[in-house]
Amino acid sequence: MSRIAVVPGSFDPVTLGHIDVIGRAAGIFDELHVLVVHNPDKSALLPIAQRVSLLERSIAEAGLPGNIRVTSWSVGLLVDYCTEVGATVIVKGIRSQVDVAYETPMALVNRNLAGVETIFLLPDPANAYVSSSLVRQVASLGGDVSPYVPAAVAEFLQKS
Ligand code: PNS
Repeated sequence: MSRIAVVPGSFDPVTLGHIDVIGRAAGIFDELHVLVVHNPDKSALLPIAQRVSLLERSIAEAGLPGNIRVTSWSVGLLVDYCTEVGATVIVKGIRSQVDVAYETPMALVNRNLAGVETIFLLPDPANAYVSSSLVRQVASLGGDVSPYVPAAVAEFLQKS
């Protein structure tokens, strides 16, 4: 039986921390779905289709394996997507205790809703402080985001 996992997130935009976790998860599971989900609690910078495109380009740029599929979901719960594609595991990156506190209730709800387990992966410590919100702020004020994001994203943000 092939094991399918989902890495969900806003990815607004994808960072080197995300790529790090996606690469680690792709090495553990047979099939990995990177799922762009709208988070109503956050004000968005990029349209969903742009985030998907930047993820695809960044995954190719990083030379990650071919078992990764990027897609988006806007019609219901994350676990509905998992059920639809046969995914049994959600993967999240954890940078700190703050992330543990944020992710734990979601993990428990997703398990209660549909029996989908969540596993937490640690990024390289070099990426431990990188976040999309930090990147959005630095980019909006004209700063250099290239140390924190894949080249495709840095290039895109510089142009826009
Ligand atoms: O990158 P983010 O913004 O921290 O990702 C959060 C996200 C989008 C994964 C989370 O908000 C989510 O799963 N939303 C889908 C709606 C859902 O299933 N909610 C109930 C379980 S938390």
